[in-house]
Amino acid sequence: MQTLTILGATGSIGVSTLDVVARHSDRYTIFALTGHTRVEALARQCQQFKPRYTVVSSEQSAELLRAQVPPGTKVLSGTEGLALVANHDDVDIVMAAIVGAAGLVPTLAAVRAGKKVLLANKEALVMAGGLFMQAVSRHGATLLPIDSEHNAIFQCLPESFNRDAISTEKNTARQLDSDAQKQNKPANPYGVRKLLLSGSGGPFRTTPLDVLDTVTPDQACAHPNWQMGRKISVDSATMMNKGLELIEACWLFDVDESKVEIIIHPQSIVHSLVEYTDGSVLAQLGNPDMRTPIAHGLAWPERIESGVAMLDLVTAAVLNFEAPDNERFPSLGLARAAARDMADAPAALNAANEVAVAAFLAGAIGFAEIYRVVDGVMQSWSVTEPVDLTEVQDADRRARRSAEQLVRRVG
Ligand SMILES: NC(=O)c1ccc[n+]([C@@H]2O[C@H](COP(=O)([O-])OP(=O)(O)OC[C@H]3O[C@@H](n4cnc5c(N)ncnc54)[C@H](OP(=O)(O)O)[C@@H]3O)[C@@H](O)[C@H]2O)c1
Repeated sequence: MQTLTILGATGSIGVSTLDVVARHSDRYTIFALTGHTRVEALARQCQQFKPRYTVVSSEQSAELLRAQVPPGTKVLSGTEGLALVANHDDVDIVMAAIVGAAGLVPTLAAVRAGKKVLLANKEALVMAGGLFMQAVSRHGATLLPIDSEHNAIFQCLPESFNRDAISTEKNTARQLDSDAQKQNKPANPYGVRKLLLSGSGGPFRTTPLDVLDTVTPDQACAHPNWQMGRKISVDSATMMNKGLELIEACWLFDVDESKVEIIIHPQSIVHSLVEYTDGSVLAQLGNPDMRTPIAHGLAWPERIESGVAMLDLVTAAVLNFEAPDNERFPSLGLARAAARDMADAPAALNAANEVAVAAFLAGAIGFAEIYRVVDGVMQSWSVTEPVDLTEVQDADRRARRSAEQLVRRVG
């Protein structure tokens, strides 16, 4: 029996995780569930799964929750509560499913406690990739990607490649590539040439460009294939989500951005691919349902049933692929530039994007202005290597301030 903390239990990933867990009550028990604003939903989850702890952001919400949880569940609040349930000795697995920068500190707490961490919260890795991966290696944490694309790539790569990517030995693909270049030898022995990240292109893949200025938050959140939270849905519509995933892939698999290609695949059935030097291309396929990567992460290296319907290739029939349109999706260029610079550029990109998306969802700016705000912040950003978490958080704050000023100007 393994014990599980779900950071962000009330969200889309949190709910899907609980669905998988409920199918395997002989394998998993819930240690803690956390939420932020949806107190009633969290209370219902506590009634069903009877965790030892539940955590909400404010003491005011905690007071409301205390009246609704079962007798054995202790209610905590704030960042200290999140850290306690992320790194508690009795926890085996932590699902990191808080959205945005707010997930960084508790996810790092789980990593530093050497937990098995299922990473959905890509923003944590985007913000602090170097420090995050160092902590994984130093504290012997097991990091498993839950983003469907990275989970697919993880499944298509040799196990030793994945192990090397988080090794302290630095005998990694990137190192092997650079050594090989110096000695004029073929690249890494695994023969991995390229990672191909697929993305559906979101709800506006074919919308006329001149209409994009007037689309509403609800239209942007109506993803054709996936049911997701509102922030990631808007990121999918701008394709900043794919840009963040590009940076995530560089850290997770220790590859240079030039080795990661983005490909549009409107059906969301091929979740991503790995291209090898011998001409082989390995892909992972499945119906678009996050319970598959969640079940994969929970049970890895075993496999368990997820509740997802089996893929019927005959019914799917047609799988299309196309190159991304950089004019339609200019955010991809911003993310690639940040991936080239690394240091604190991804933290700035992520912070500016969070502010711009929140402003769009609140009706303060239009859809096309999301890009303009993030671009404005990145144009004036001077890239510095953060030495610790405080410096990452400082970069995050400065980029947010600058994005907020731009929002006021364009809104
Ligand atoms: N949804 C997907 O299919 C999908 C796929 C791949 C990756 N991801 C990634 O997974 C993460 C979660 O996405 P989601 O779609 O599940 O988001 P979501 O539905 O918006 O859920 C976000 C969760 O985080 C909590 N939360 C929000 N702000 C918080 C804060 N300041 N402090 C503490 N908790 C906070 C929310 O609590 P309340 O609900 O109580 O406010 C909720 O539990 C994101 O990083 C996303 O990029 C999602």
